[in-house]
Amino acid sequence: MPTTAPTPVPTLLVFDSGIGGLSIADEIRRALPTCRLVYVADNVIFTYGTQEESVLVNRLLQLLPTLEQYARPDLIVIACNTASTVVLEPLRAQTTTPIIGVVPAIKPAAQLTQNRTIGLLATPGTVKRQYVQRLVDEFAHGCTVIKTGSSELVHQAENKLRGLPVDEALIAREVAPLLNQATTPDVVILGCTHFPFLREEISRALPPGTR
Ligand code: DGL
Repeated sequence: MPTTAPTPVPTLLVFDSGIGGLSIADEIRRALPTCRLVYVADNVIFTYGTQEESVLVNRLLQLLPTLEQYARPDLIVIACNTASTVVLEPLRAQTTTPIIGVVPAIKPAAQLTQNRTIGLLATPGTVKRQYVQRLVDEFAHGCTVIKTGSSELVHQAENKLRGLPVDEALIAREVAPLLNQATTPDVVILGCTHFPFLREEISRALPPGTR
């Protein structure tokens, strides 16, 4: 009897500086339950949000061949806003493996906001990126985008995932710069893959009804 060869299972490599990219891996797992997921956290130069752009580019270019050799991925997901906003172009130039990045959700936020004021909570690196400003210019024209960078929130998310206590007062202090403004944002973007793990704590620090 003829046998059919099993359909190969695609391998997706999900990458971040720490455990933040697990928030993206969870979503991928839900959407594509049968794919093989390999998760790599680069905690050698963690946090990425405090690194110079050139350091991140060199680090990712240096890691790429090892990641490809190790996981033989069909697709790479850079599940890190801080890295994606600066490394996607040079990485794509170095490999034929498709690379998908994660960048702050400026476009959906611009569609959601009623008062044309958006908060962007990200790392100190991401809020400074030209890439992010280009997204704002292209997709959030006419909106005020208040950007706040925090590495403390990254550490708090790592603590939470390790089962360690989370400092809610510190989280509220880190979120506060979004609120001391002429108009308070009615939509806040979690522009770092670590931050969904602190969604409840961050929501409690924001006015009720903030989306
Ligand atoms: N999770 C990363 C992001 O989405 C950043 C964490 C870090 O600063 O290392 O930007």
